[in-house]
Amino acid sequence: MSLSQDKPTRILFVCLGNICRSPTAEAVFRHKAGQAGWHNLLQADSAGTAAWHVGKVPDARSQQHGRERGYDLSSLRARQVTTADFSDFDHILAMDADNLAELEKLRQQAAAAGQGRTARLGLLLDEHPDTAGRDVPDPYYGGPAGFDEVIDLIETATDALLRRLLKARGVFGCGC
Ligand code: 4NP
Repeated sequence: MSLSQDKPTRILFVCLGNICRSPTAEAVFRHKAGQAGWHNLLQADSAGTAAWHVGKVPDARSQQHGRERGYDLSSLRARQVTTADFSDFDHILAMDADNLAELEKLRQQAAAAGQGRTARLGLLLDEHPDTAGRDVPDPYYGGPAGFDEVIDLIETATDALLRRLLKARGVFGCGC
């Protein structure tokens, strides 16, 4: 069986509302994985720890800023993270420390309920030394510059994430 037919590595990006940061991370990562030719091997999704915006399209400002930088968020719809995500995904990456703490609680609930394999849990920005230890700031109540900063941080971290995951799957020299 060729590498591209192997079981994909699945990555879930998580923020609070799933309408600004995590759908941006999903779109940016998918775009990069597609450009590298590995969209079948690396599959991305996103979710929010809160249920406020379930079923909604991403925030119009995230869609606009994403579109201006070459990322299409229009087909995405918000959903809330579930305990099942800990067995469905290989990596769950939070946009900030508050959401990471919520995910940690949910992981304990998943474990207490005897739900299987547990995803690796971490902060997206820890993937790259230039952004490590930082949160992706919540842009929801701020101005336009915040949406561009979100994309800048996510691009840096997802570049590193993509390289690391491809290397872990035995893909070297991906040109990414
Ligand atoms: P996100 O941003 O977590 O990046 O999707 C937010 C979206 C909505 C709200 C807060 C943050 N809200 O308060 O509704």
